[in-house]
Amino acid sequence: MTPTWAQLCYLAAAVCFILALRGLSSPRTARNGNLIGAVGAVLACVTVFFAVDLEHEVWILVAIAIGTVIGVIGAQQVQMTQMPQLVALFNGVGGGAAALVALLELQEVIGEVGVGDVPTFDLAATAFTILVGSVSFSGSMVTFAKLQELMTTRPVTFSGLPVAFALTLLAGLGLSVLLVADAAMWVGTLVGVAGLLLGVLLVLPVGGADVPIVISLLNAFTGLTVAAGGYVLGNTLLLVAGTLVGASGTFLTKMMATAMGRSLANTLFGALKGGSTLGAGEVSDRPVRSAGPADVAILLGYANRVIIVPGYGLAVAQAQHTLRELVDVLMAKGIAVDYAIHPVAGRMPGHMNVLLAEAQVPYEQLKEMGDINGEFKQADVVLVVGANDVVNPAAKTTPGAPIYGMPILNADEAKQVIFMKRSMRPGFAGIENELLFDPKTTLLFGDAKDTMSKLLSAVKSL
Ligand code: TAP
Repeated sequence: MTPTWAQLCYLAAAVCFILALRGLSSPRTARNGNLIGAVGAVLACVTVFFAVDLEHEVWILVAIAIGTVIGVIGAQQVQMTQMPQLVALFNGVGGGAAALVALLELQEVIGEVGVGDVPTFDLAATAFTILVGSVSFSGSMVTFAKLQELMTTRPVTFSGLPVAFALTLLAGLGLSVLLVADAAMWVGTLVGVAGLLLGVLLVLPVGGADVPIVISLLNAFTGLTVAAGGYVLGNTLLLVAGTLVGASGTFLTKMMATAMGRSLANTLFGALKGGSTLGAGEVSDRPVRSAGPADVAILLGYANRVIIVPGYGLAVAQAQHTLRELVDVLMAKGIAVDYAIHPVAGRMPGHMNVLLAEAQVPYEQLKEMGDINGEFKQADVVLVVGANDVVNPAAKTTPGAPIYGMPILNADEAKQVIFMKRSMRPGFAGIENELLFDPKTTLLFGDAKDTMSKLLSAVKSL
C-alpha cells in the first residue's frame, strides 16, 4: 500500500506534468514548462525511492548516476539540428525500459502467485507493454540510425517486406494472446522478440523526410506502454504520465502528417506501394541568376516589405543571431519585416520558433503560414535562408512529387525572391525547386552564417 505522503507527492508530480504540457504550448512559456516537468520527474523518482521497500538500492543509485551523466553530457553536446535523433534515442530507451520492467514483473508475479492466478487484465496489460515497448525501442533505434546517417535515409524495402511485416504482427498478437491464456516467461520473451522485429520492419520503409513523424508516433507508443506499465505495477503516476505522453504524441503525429499533406498510412506504408517517399536527389545544371552580398543588400535596402523564410540550413549554419541583427537594421530603415514560419520548416516541430527565440527575435515578428500566406503578394522581397522544400511550388504543381499536397509558403508570389544556400543541391525531400530558376529569383551562394555577415555589413553601409 502506497503511504499517503507518497500519494500526495505523486499527485503533485502529475500536476507538474500537466502544467509542463500547458507551458510547452507556447514559445514564451516553454522554458518554464520544461523546468516544471523536470521538477515533477525528480519528485516522482525521489518519492518512489523512499516510499517503496526497495532491494539493491546501491545498484539503483549506480544506474541513476550513469544515466544522469549520459543524459547531461548528451544534452549539452547535442546540436539543435540533431534534436530529433536525441528525442528518438530517449524515447526508445523509455519504451525499452517499460518492456523490461513488464517482463520482470511477469517473472515476479508468476513466482509469487503461480501461473493461473494472475488476473487476465493484468496479463493483457503486461503483454501490451512488452509488445509495444519493444516496437518503440527497436523502431526508435532505426529512426536514430537514419537521422544520424548511420544508415541510408532512403526507404528500405524488399519484395517480401509486406508479408514479413504481416506475419510478425500476427506472431506478436498470437503470442500476446498465448501469454494471457497461459502466463510463462518464455512466451513473454518471445512477445518482446516479435516486438523488436516489428519495430524494425515498421520503420525501414519510411523515407528520411518522414522519419520525424514516425518518431512522434513511436513517442505516442512509448506513452501508452508506460501507461499500461503503470497499470501492471499499480502506479497511478505512471498511468497519468504515460497517458499524457500517449495523447500528446498522437496529436503531434496527426498535426505533423497534416502539415506535410500526408496521411499517416501513406507516411508509414507509402514506399511499399512502389512510390518513393524521397526524391531522386539530382542536381540540375540549368542556368540561374546569382549575385553577391552587395547586390542583394540593395534589393533588401530599397524594399518596403520583406518576408524572411527560415529553414533547416539556418539552423545548420547557426546564422540566426546575424539574421536577427540584419532584420533589426532593416526595420531601423523603416522597412516592414516578418518571419514566415512553415510548420515543418527544419527537422522537428517548432524548430524555427526555438531557433529564433534563442536569437531574441520578438514573437510578434513570427507569423504562422496561415496568417502570412496571403501577404506574399505585397512583399517586395522574400529572403529564403537555408530553406527549400517549404517554398517549393512542386507541392502544388507536380502530382507524384514526394511533397505534393504539402501546404507551402507562397514565396513564389512575391516580387523578388532571394535564396541563401550553398549550392544547387535539393532540400530534404530530394527534389528540384523550380523557384530557383524563376527569372525573379536571385541566389546568394555560400554558408548562411558567412554570407549573412557579409550581407549585414553591406546593408549597414547603404
Ligand atoms: P530543406 O528543404 O531541407 O532545405 C534546407 C536547405 O538548406 C537546403 O536546400 C540546403 O541547400 C540549405 N543549407 C544547408 N546547410 C546550409 C548552410 N550551412 N548554409 C546555407 N544553406 C544551407 O529545409 P526546409 O525548407 O526547412 O524544409 C524542411 C524539410 O524537412 C521538409 O522536407 C519537411 O517535410 C522535412 N520535415 C520536417 C519536419 C518538421 S516537423 N520540421 C518533420 C519531418 C520532415 P545547400 O545544401 O545547397 O546549402
